[in-house]
Amino acid sequence: MRTLDDLLDVGVAGRRILVRSDLNVPLGTGEHGARAVADDGRIRASLPVLEKLLDHGARVLVTAHLGRPKGAPDPQYSLAPVADRLAQLLGRPVEFALDTVGESARLLADGLEDGQLLLLENVRFNAGETAKDDAQRFDFARQLAALTGGEDGGGAFVEDAFGAVHRKHASVFDVATLLPHYCGDLVRDELQVLSTLTGHPARPYVVVLGGSKVSDKLAVIESLLPKVDRLLVGGGMCFTFLAAQGHGVGDSLLERDQVDTCRTLLESAGEKIVLPTDIVVSDDIANDAVTEVVAADAIPAGRKGLDIGPQSVAEFGAALDGAQTVFWNGPMGVFEVAPFAAGTKGVAEAVAATPGLSVVGGGDSAAAVRALGLDETGFGHISTGGGASLEFLEGKELPGVTVLEAH
Ligand code: 3PG
Repeated sequence: MRTLDDLLDVGVAGRRILVRSDLNVPLGTGEHGARAVADDGRIRASLPVLEKLLDHGARVLVTAHLGRPKGAPDPQYSLAPVADRLAQLLGRPVEFALDTVGESARLLADGLEDGQLLLLENVRFNAGETAKDDAQRFDFARQLAALTGGEDGGGAFVEDAFGAVHRKHASVFDVATLLPHYCGDLVRDELQVLSTLTGHPARPYVVVLGGSKVSDKLAVIESLLPKVDRLLVGGGMCFTFLAAQGHGVGDSLLERDQVDTCRTLLESAGEKIVLPTDIVVSDDIANDAVTEVVAADAIPAGRKGLDIGPQSVAEFGAALDGAQTVFWNGPMGVFEVAPFAAGTKGVAEAVAATPGLSVVGGGDSAAAVRALGLDETGFGHISTGGGASLEFLEGKELPGVTVLEAH
């Protein structure tokens, strides 16, 4: 793969360079009730490539998505608050186009000067971005590439959206087939760290999985089980495993259609899978919720399990003690709500305390680390990719990476 440094060696001054970044960040309410970025981790991770290009005199056009709008403009998914935060972090003005490839984008792209940056509106406001139909996707990619003046006009493409490389989308995949393309530093660094997990990880190798859905994680569980020494399961997904052991789970999250699969996993590799032994239950997900800790095999009917309990945190901590390689994806409970944050916090602290390489994968887990005020430097690597890092570990092809390998 050609890298950003290869592009800088050729020279970028005066050229329009299209960069795909992953700026899909959670939004909240900022000053005066306006929408604002709630966690800017992915924006900060995108800065180095943008700064390098700007410092070398490139005219930078950034494409990104936010949320999952339905192929048409939808104000709640506008990238406008992201443009504001990006400008603050860069310490330079950021032009913001009100559309993706329309008049606003074309005028602003044409007016860019050396060392200036333009962020286009959410690429998913155009149905071509995620279209299954190759021709429709390609057509949108062609319009994006045209904003750079095309290959003959000095245009080039830098793929830096690690969190989106598992998507065969126009701005991630097709556009790379239309312009000279280069791998950005973020994608390069993520691939390097994650490769150590799929190659020969130092042992003991412990994986911690949480989050709400087993169905999202089954493929990664199946591919990781033969490689890991221990797999710790918390979060909403643990209830389907508990149900597979024959326990009642009250009103907790449960994927009934996955119970048999979980039972098979427990039968084939049960000695490696560690489940919580106690659970924090409540009737409400609220800051003033009344909670109770119960045994994992005695969750009362009608109550919801919303976090792993203190005994489980201690047991997960013991399983992590001395681990030389750790991969953690997914919170242990509803960490955004104070009474259900202790499980995620405790496990995160245990992961950070391990002596070897610890990798945090997933938007939610990375956001949890920051939201709970944990020291980010305690972790070897905090990945910007959720689905992308899981699919990499599953050994799946990542379209946004494979397309960079072709010249
Ligand atoms: C992510 O949040 O994992 C990436 O930004 C990809 O988003 P998506 O799952 O909506 O494609």
